[in-house]
Amino acid sequence: TENLEIENVIIGSGYGGAVVALRLAESGHEVTILEMGLNWEKSGEKFSPMISPGKSAAWLRTKTIAPFFNIFNTKKYTGTLDRWDFSNIKIWMGRGVGGGSLVNGGMAVLPKKDYFGEVFPELNTEEFYGKYFPLAEKELEVNSADESFLENCSFYKFNKVGEQEAHKAGFKTVRVPNVYDFKYMEDEYENKVPRSALAGEVIYGNNYGKKSLDKTYLKKAQETGKVHIHDLHKVESITKGLENTYILEVIQTNTLGETIAKKKIICKKLFLCAGTMGTLELLLKSSNDNKLTLNSEVGQNWGNNGNFMTGRNFVKTFSGGTGVNHSTIPVGGIDNWDDKEHPFFSEIAPLPMGMDVATSLYLMINPVPKKGSVFFNPISKKIDLQWSAENVALARTNAEYFIKKMNKVNGGTRAHLLFNNGFGADICYHPLGGAVLGKATDMMGRLKGSENLYIIDGSLIPGTIGVNPFLTITALAEYCIEHIISEDY
Ligand code: FDA
Repeated sequence: TENLEIENVIIGSGYGGAVVALRLAESGHEVTILEMGLNWEKSGEKFSPMISPGKSAAWLRTKTIAPFFNIFNTKKYTGTLDRWDFSNIKIWMGRGVGGGSLVNGGMAVLPKKDYFGEVFPELNTEEFYGKYFPLAEKELEVNSADESFLENCSFYKFNKVGEQEAHKAGFKTVRVPNVYDFKYMEDEYENKVPRSALAGEVIYGNNYGKKSLDKTYLKKAQETGKVHIHDLHKVESITKGLENTYILEVIQTNTLGETIAKKKIICKKLFLCAGTMGTLELLLKSSNDNKLTLNSEVGQNWGNNGNFMTGRNFVKTFSGGTGVNHSTIPVGGIDNWDDKEHPFFSEIAPLPMGMDVATSLYLMINPVPKKGSVFFNPISKKIDLQWSAENVALARTNAEYFIKKMNKVNGGTRAHLLFNNGFGADICYHPLGGAVLGKATDMMGRLKGSENLYIIDGSLIPGTIGVNPFLTITALAEYCIEHIISEDY
């Protein structure tokens, strides 16, 4: 085992980790990022499209794990997409330098101002909408598609049909901004550049077009010369050291997941940015195994952001189908949030199967009135969830209402040909909470009761934010690290 002493360590290179790295480096501090996934850019490996999964498709598995397209065998490799299965819910996550930004749909959605205020009553809403959200949008390079491009691009028929059908059923739709460069996509459409969104790439990584974190925050951070990213480095546990330092047990692996080195790292300041599930597993495991002291709020107020995947088959009567080719980048949302009885926001999702399957897919985001919790299971030696049908009751009622209303005026059936008869209550892309801002941490992400230990990722958000969450995670990280730098350094 190698022993190392490092001032500032960040675990994880997703949204939280990338923001912390850039701002610390800009203010003159050396920073080390430990990331269990691969540095894809450095490796020279290519990402693979959904219909022909290659090395990037799955994290150390021999079968692919996307919610659809489950039929493929794959070789064991440190791929970009991981999934953790619990009894009533499956949680998908990104792995690699850039975290979730590698695999996600790039939707950069501003939460409703009122709802943000409800979720975070102690934060200054005006300051967030005037300063931190615009800053996050600028750094993430958020942009919107040109309306005439969307109107004429055959790859967006699914969205056009999705919006028309929603309007016919009396729902309101909104245009959703994204970090995918839409000017690049226009060039793809005209065959001027290699295709990515128009070639079925997204959930196993995009080779072009998407401004994932390795192209924005992390690139800028590395340009300072002060940020050192160690990929294929997994933190196994945390122990409290002398004088409020932390001792990390780290394994370095190869791309087959085999351990090639063990390291012990002692750090003065530790930033836990391993994503909601990664952060909670590290904290709860270290508490059980190494007596790391935690406050009682850790593990509480966890939620799935009301994720509910649903769909409709035989979308034909009115529209003539959803199109042969789908861009993988969503641009439309159905905004029913202000309906008191059935509040939801829904992404009009692509289903790029390479043929017209006349199926509409929706990722609904609902409020989460009843939160779950996360705990350490000493038998499996892993974290476990308290999460049941009760927690998704509102989401299910909303999905029933939505599908019924859509089918009544547009024709079609519930998507019995998809997952779970078309009702994916157990599909979660947005795990949030468990180390909530102002509860488990103070108002700046410092873990209560522990010096020099910071939590900056999705676990700060109490289980719900009403829209896709990465813009909010980025803005929260900007706010936290600004205060931490001015007060703790
Ligand atoms: P994030 O998960 O991004 O990063 C954590 C990093 O820590 C990972 O790289 C992980 O490998 C690493 N790590 C974990 N444990 C570790 C350990 N022990 N040691 C070392 N490293 C460790 N959101 C959105 O706003 N718009 C969208 O369109 C989508 N679409 C979408 C699609 C799919 C398929 C998924 C899975 C998710 C989305 N999301 C999304 C969700 C979004 O990607 C997610 O909320 C953020 O990536 C979470 O950011 P964090 O900073 O919390 O962690």
